[in-house]
Amino acid sequence: MHEEPAPEEHHFTIRQATLDLFESICIFYQNHPAPYLPVPDVVKLADAIDDGRLFIVQDYSARSEIVAATAIFDYAPRKARTLVYELSGTRVTSDVGGLGPLNLQCIFIALRLGQLVSQEEHLLKVGLSQSLVAIVNEDNETSDGNLKLMGLIPMQEPLPSWIDYDNLTWLAPKDKDKWKFYYADDRSVQECLKILFELGIDRKFISLTRINRSTGKKEKFVFWVDIHSFETLYILDLKAIADGVRAPHLTPPPQRLIF
Ligand SMILES: CC(C)(COP(=O)(O)OP(=O)(O)OC[C@H]1O[C@@H](n2cnc3c(N)ncnc32)[C@H](O)[C@@H]1OP(=O)(O)O)[C@@H](O)C(=O)NCCC(=O)NCCS
Repeated sequence: MHEEPAPEEHHFTIRQATLDLFESICIFYQNHPAPYLPVPDVVKLADAIDDGRLFIVQDYSARSEIVAATAIFDYAPRKARTLVYELSGTRVTSDVGGLGPLNLQCIFIALRLGQLVSQEEHLLKVGLSQSLVAIVNEDNETSDGNLKLMGLIPMQEPLPSWIDYDNLTWLAPKDKDKWKFYYADDRSVQECLKILFELGIDRKFISLTRINRSTGKKEKFVFWVDIHSFETLYILDLKAIADGVRAPHLTPPPQRLIF
């Protein structure tokens, strides 16, 4: 009987970038421009890296080239007591594109939500709230579909006035209507974490597959997750959220920023 050959296996790490990689990350975004991905500005980029909120994907053993990146940027000013973050800076190159059963952008959404809520207890203690938005161009069907698939919720018009104001600073007013806003709530977080646990995040790696477009061959991808919030010490806490035992307290974006 003819046996199918074992799929080619690729191992990658998803890890938190550090500031020594700042320039490499700028080069990565410069070398992989995309129509609906505004290049992150240096301040937001450096802040996200410094906070451990920018994840990069690299070959597991060589740790050389960056093949994908994703981040959470500050969306409201850091001084606000109503903290608001933005899922942003996601770029997936063809080295790790087209994966299933979930693609890498979906995995990135779930990992970032998990990271964000893992610090919630501390924030509640000091009287801060946190929210999370994602902004997508209506023509970017892949991203739009991925956000919906992962349980993010469309924001209804009218948007809070501080968001309208912020739009003037980076979106040309003529394009304003092309950008859709989503937010995550406790249910979105729970759905995302459930998916991660189904994929075996507690083993510290996630396995995905694809049929390579250029070769037509099946490939297996193993992503080793090296993110602080998913270490053994915190994973039970995240499991409690996935199981609905604990609420992560992610609030909808506030109507007004409170300082
Ligand atoms: C939107 C995005 C993050 C979605 O990621 P994803 O669903 O995990 O990955 P995709 O299936 O879109 O594939 C990403 C890459 O892999 C390639 N790819 C897809 N399926 C493939 C396959 N089976 N074999 C080989 N390559 C494949 C795609 O052509 C694409 O490469 P390219 O950018 O050089 O054209 C990704 O398409 C991207 O980086 N887009 C540009 C930036 C962007 O829009 N960011 C989001 C802003 S909200």
